[in-house]
Amino acid sequence: MANGHTKLGDTNLSISKIGVGTWAWGSRILWGYGRDYTEADLVSVYEESLKSGVNFFDTAEIYGMGNSEEILGHCFQKSRADISPVIATKFFPFPWRLGKNALRQALVASLKRLGLNRVELYQIHQPVNINKWLNAIADVYEEGLINAVGVSNYNPEQLKRAFDILENRRIKLASNQVHYSLIHRQNETNGLLSLCQELKVTFLAYSPLAQGVLTGKYTPQNPPRGILRSRRYRRAVLERWQPLIKVMTKISEENAGKTLAQIALNWVLSKGAIPVVGAKNITQIKDNIAALDWQLSDKDVARLDKAANTMEN
Ligand SMILES: NC(=O)c1ccc[n+]([C@@H]2O[C@H](COP(=O)([O-])OP(=O)(O)OC[C@H]3O[C@@H](n4cnc5c(N)ncnc54)[C@H](OP(=O)(O)O)[C@@H]3O)[C@@H](O)[C@H]2O)c1
Repeated sequence: MANGHTKLGDTNLSISKIGVGTWAWGSRILWGYGRDYTEADLVSVYEESLKSGVNFFDTAEIYGMGNSEEILGHCFQKSRADISPVIATKFFPFPWRLGKNALRQALVASLKRLGLNRVELYQIHQPVNINKWLNAIADVYEEGLINAVGVSNYNPEQLKRAFDILENRRIKLASNQVHYSLIHRQNETNGLLSLCQELKVTFLAYSPLAQGVLTGKYTPQNPPRGILRSRRYRRAVLERWQPLIKVMTKISEENAGKTLAQIALNWVLSKGAIPVVGAKNITQIKDNIAALDWQLSDKDVARLDKAANTMEN
């Protein structure tokens, strides 16, 4: 296995210890695509990732209403990189998708946008109608259209159910992708992280930078813009997290200027999770990937845990 890589669940797929999230790729309204960054920026994110050995990319049919899969597909088709990407996408179980065959149809549409015959990891985006969609995804796995099965936003009880349904079909559940960062630790405190480790299900941590807040660049005086983040990260919320940002800044000074993004990602890695981190340009992806080059000391992990816990209470 290449340096900085790990197995995806109990499968034979090898993925980098950092994944690249592509929610913002092609998403104008939520993320400012076309204004703050362009497809050329995203191509450079893709190329820089592969050049650095980061091979795992996460998208979804709903990101940018299909644009994210299309842009990722362009990157893949045009690239001359030596290593192949491991591409993960997701099925969204909309309530109007009634029959089991809807999953296969959605997968075929995703494959077309990506320009692939098969996707390495296919994930169910939300835990609804668990039995129906897990059996539908097992069908496309058996058909050879996907290499591994994942879920997303499943709590411990839902994860165990999904695991058992697949086990009955002799399929290993490879991953569960959930919200996890220094300031969103409910998927650790509710026992999900340890259950995933026990079952050999890779714990994929999304929004590991709290959508940019953990880089320290957004402050109560400079809150993030945009309809999604301006509501989620209001001034009062940012105010509450400043003590944690202070501790991160102190750790940065004591560690030769490692950036706050690298500290936030390194903390996720220290818990045995794989951060799936978004990047809009080459500067951000280089910064994020550099989190793989060093390791927080146990003492600093404990300081961060303490600062995060104090803030929650
Ligand atoms: N399964 C699910 O339900 C679900 C939900 C959410 C996300 N996800 C996945 O997780 C991925 C990552 O989550 P996310 O995009 O919500 O949040 P994130 O990774 O915590 O934050 C990404 C954002 O932070 C900023 N940023 C990234 N690196 C930076 C750096 N080094 N320095 C400064 N700013 C930096 C960028 O936005 P600005 O430059 O605009 O600040 C970037 O778009 C998504 O792309 C998606 O693949 C999955």
